[in-house]
Amino acid sequence: MKILVTGGAGFIGSNFIHYWLKNHPDDKIVNLDKLTYCGNLENLKEVESNKNYQFVKGDICEGELINKVMKGIDKVVHFAAESHVDRSILEPSTFIQTNIIGTQILLEAALKNEVKHFHHISTDEVFGALKLDDPAKFNENTRYDPRSPYSASKAASDHLVMAYHITYGLPVTITNTSNNYGPYQYPEKLLPLAITNLIEGKKVPIYGDGKYVRDWLYVEDHCRAIDLVLTKGRIGETYCIGGLTDDVNNLELIKKVLKIMGKDESVLEYVKDRLGHDRRYAVDWSKAKNELGYQPECDLDTYLEKTIQWYQANESWWKRIKSGEYQEYYQRQYGK
Ligand code: NAD
Ligand code: TYD
Repeated sequence: MKILVTGGAGFIGSNFIHYWLKNHPDDKIVNLDKLTYCGNLENLKEVESNKNYQFVKGDICEGELINKVMKGIDKVVHFAAESHVDRSILEPSTFIQTNIIGTQILLEAALKNEVKHFHHISTDEVFGALKLDDPAKFNENTRYDPRSPYSASKAASDHLVMAYHITYGLPVTITNTSNNYGPYQYPEKLLPLAITNLIEGKKVPIYGDGKYVRDWLYVEDHCRAIDLVLTKGRIGETYCIGGLTDDVNNLELIKKVLKIMGKDESVLEYVKDRLGHDRRYAVDWSKAKNELGYQPECDLDTYLEKTIQWYQANESWWKRIKSGEYQEYYQRQYGK
């Protein structure tokens, strides 16, 4: 089988490529990535020489190139996106371009080239915000209610994916997944930002009161879920994928990090809140469990520790990132 992975040089995409080549060694992977600020071929050094792996530098918005790359592809796993909420608040237009237009261009090429399965990676953020202390969770029937330019662009892409299925019969599936953590995550997202700041002796910025809840999913569990959808998922269906956490708020999460790293709470810095900040996400993954046998295996405490150890052991990876364009972004987002 030949799989086109888009955005495979990013955080989840690169973890997925490692996972797939290890677990399906006879399959071929073409990784198409534009290498934006967060695309990093260093994430894939170990597979560079694998004969079943090929890298193509390109933009999902370039129709001609996409059409060429799509030839002979059996399945598409579409990760490529602008993925950071704070950047979407600073500059929404690239989110519209890549996440909406780019997805439509891929769908068109997949249809033309009779791809057998187009799997779209999406987020739980399309469902909006839940209330604190409310037992409700997002599921596949939750009404879409995106509240940031990022989640609105992902919601639009989900609708396009389903429209191509219903209107043209393109065989699609979607996963709406919660907050991932693990190796190779660009240090603008909460956990890698906090861990690397602490290693550098810097403070950890906490937005608002810190009582914002996310559902934390270890990236390898996410890769296993995508594998299940690609092999057993029903065409035309959406699956919500979450982790093993139970309403952990940002402060509680960061306090776990401080404990593992031997730091005290004086390193916390309460900063201006994010605009339109979604209070709580929680995911009910029972459909994936009942239909596909999905079961996350990685508990937060153990895998948080493993994640911290990875950033401690791979300082050169994130130090190179933090010395480039990142500085400019950090100044703009957090001031001095
Ligand atoms: P990331 O930002 O680390 O990586 C995105 C990748 O896409 C990068 O390699 C980048 O170079 C590439 N890319 C961006 N624009 C492109 C374009 N126009 N053409 C080709 N490549 C382009 O993102 P991530 O965290 O790995 O997220 C991957 C996917 O998973 C995204 O679709 C995101 O919305 C979704 N998702 C992420 C999370 C999370 O917690 N990180 C949770 C749920 C869903
Ligand atoms: P983030 O990692 O950006 O993921 P998302 O916004 O997609 O959930 O943020 C996770 C949570 O952490 C979110 O509630 C915002 C908060 N946060 C901070 O408190 N400080 C920070 O510096 C960052 C980046 C995020």
